[in-house]
Amino acid sequence: MWFISVSGRMCVAGLWCLLVLVVTTAAATNLRPPNVLVMLADDLGIGDLSCYGNTTIKTPNLDRLALGGVKLTHHLAAAPLCTPSRAALLTARYPARYGLVGNESTWSIVITNVANRAALPLDEVTLATALSAANYTTAIVGKWHLGSHCSFLGRRCPGPLKYGFQSFFGIPTTLSIDCRGPHAFWIFSLSDPQCQMLAGSWLAVVASVVVVARMLGWRWRTMVLLLLLSNFLTFVVWFKIIHLSKTSFRLTRVSPWLYRLLNSLLVRDGEVVEQPIRLDGLSQRLVQESRHFLAQHAADHQPFFLFHSFAHVHTPMFSAPHMEGVSKHGRYGDNVEELDEGVGSLLEALREHNLEENTIVYFTSDNGAHLEALDHEGQRIGGHNGRFKGGKLQGGPDGGIRVPGIYRWAGHLPENVTVDTPTSLMDLMPTLLDLADLPPLHRLVPQAAHKQELDGVSIARLLTGDTPDLPTDQETRVMLHHCRQVIHAVRLTRGQHIYKMYLKKQQWFPGSTQCGWGALTGCDCARNIDDLSHQPELYDLTRDPYEDHSPISPDTDEYQDVVGFLQQYVREWSAKVTYPPSLLNNGSLAAWLPWRQPVCLTC
Ligand SMILES: *[C@@H]1O[C@H](CO)[C@@H](O)[C@H](O)[C@H]1NC(C)=O
Ligand SMILES: *[C@@H]1O[C@H](CO)[C@@H](O)[C@H](O)[C@H]1NC(C)=O
Repeated sequence: MWFISVSGRMCVAGLWCLLVLVVTTAAATNLRPPNVLVMLADDLGIGDLSCYGNTTIKTPNLDRLALGGVKLTHHLAAAPLCTPSRAALLTARYPARYGLVGNESTWSIVITNVANRAALPLDEVTLATALSAANYTTAIVGKWHLGSHCSFLGRRCPGPLKYGFQSFFGIPTTLSIDCRGPHAFWIFSLSDPQCQMLAGSWLAVVASVVVVARMLGWRWRTMVLLLLLSNFLTFVVWFKIIHLSKTSFRLTRVSPWLYRLLNSLLVRDGEVVEQPIRLDGLSQRLVQESRHFLAQHAADHQPFFLFHSFAHVHTPMFSAPHMEGVSKHGRYGDNVEELDEGVGSLLEALREHNLEENTIVYFTSDNGAHLEALDHEGQRIGGHNGRFKGGKLQGGPDGGIRVPGIYRWAGHLPENVTVDTPTSLMDLMPTLLDLADLPPLHRLVPQAAHKQELDGVSIARLLTGDTPDLPTDQETRVMLHHCRQVIHAVRLTRGQHIYKMYLKKQQWFPGSTQCGWGALTGCDCARNIDDLSHQPELYDLTRDPYEDHSPISPDTDEYQDVVGFLQQYVREWSAKVTYPPSLLNNGSLAAWLPWRQPVCLTC
């Protein structure tokens, strides 16, 4: 009623006004490329979703998404952890090509602080840059983790705005178990040798000041000043011990208290708007933001690209009250189901705004489940990688890199189809440009052409089910699986066969396919590695998908043929592609820079 009366008043000429509106919208939707909605989960395992075979978890919205589109069962991340995998997703290139990986030392393997200089190199072309060049409205909501670029005093931290995104609301780096506070600031334990030494020195200094002052007959004001000074110096040393160095073995490099203070931030378009993040209900707030974006741009003439990067199901676990205790799998399960609820809400918004037929939807996870994760009470808060061995932070094993992958484009892609061919998260950009009938990247962003060699390929034909030009049994694809900068395994898709060759393998905790237990524990690509390069292990994943059986015997022709081919491939690759030094392990780039620390003054 309200709508009719308003438009009636506004459109004086009545009918023709409405007609023009209908015609122009129709023309616009026909001519313009489709919108893109990318949803990325964090640390979600392939065994965590009911559409991938989990019988006890409830993920009805993702199941429905899969039923309405193409489900990829052999979908692979380019890296087994956040920063590098996300970089690869957005650039379609192995992160080792531009140094956004750790190296063999144990320092840092992701971007650890908002206020540091490590970042995706600015000359890398992202999906957002490409789609901006194609006149899309681009936005990211949620976790970024590819570099914040904070200015002096942290007045602005543009982050994704430097990579083709026109707006950003979310988490500049990552959530971590430490984001769940509060944490103690005053920590002092006399059983700790460093604290003992500190207490001893403080007593000695105070006593000497008092004694010397009495002996030399100083004025009491001088004495008080000296005492204050020594207390201050003691405080500084204490702070360094407790908050900066006690925790140096940890990924975050600072104490839980300091980490939460510095990095638990929500940023909107470069400015901090919340510090620390209110975790419970965060999932809903991010989804609300994306729904708002969809509502705002539903009727635009320009298409949009929305990258909704979930905070779930990374540690710590958190949920809105109505999602607590809903699953059969503790807090982790609740988080998976809350993630699914968020997906449902975004899909619902597409439906409400009549966007389903002109929006390509893609869902995936940045890496496999973090098997080792425990919360402070010792409850397991890591996911499940189905029957695949290994998990997050492991280079070669499928558990760390084989993730859910769903493409849906109503009316354009087939429904309820499963594709078992190996595909990569890096295929996203070429595939979207192809599906949307946009020019290839080197024409869309000409300045990138000289260096932009893509590792992802368009899988549009696989998705549409169109007959490929070549019979599939002649197609060959090689994928490299790095652990940090080192190639641990190589996968070959050739004809009907999928092989995996291991050059290096992580030693697992006995009786498991993981490396211990703990909130920040995970396998370490730098230590406890078996070098198999003199005689690689070869598996035929078509016959032995979970690598349950012994590897193929080196005496067979099959082994000689495949391993020979792949070793040659790796030799040629190493001769052709030089990896720059690690940006994440570079002390001056990775270190926390206090003078760039953003602080929310209005929070
Ligand atoms: C983007 O818009 C500009 C200006 O309207 C136009 O010249 C250009 O062709 C458009 N690019 C694409 C890829 O559609
Ligand atoms: C389903 O997922 C939960 C959460 O990761 C896991 O604990 C459980 O083992 C899975 N169940 C099955 C049957 O795969």
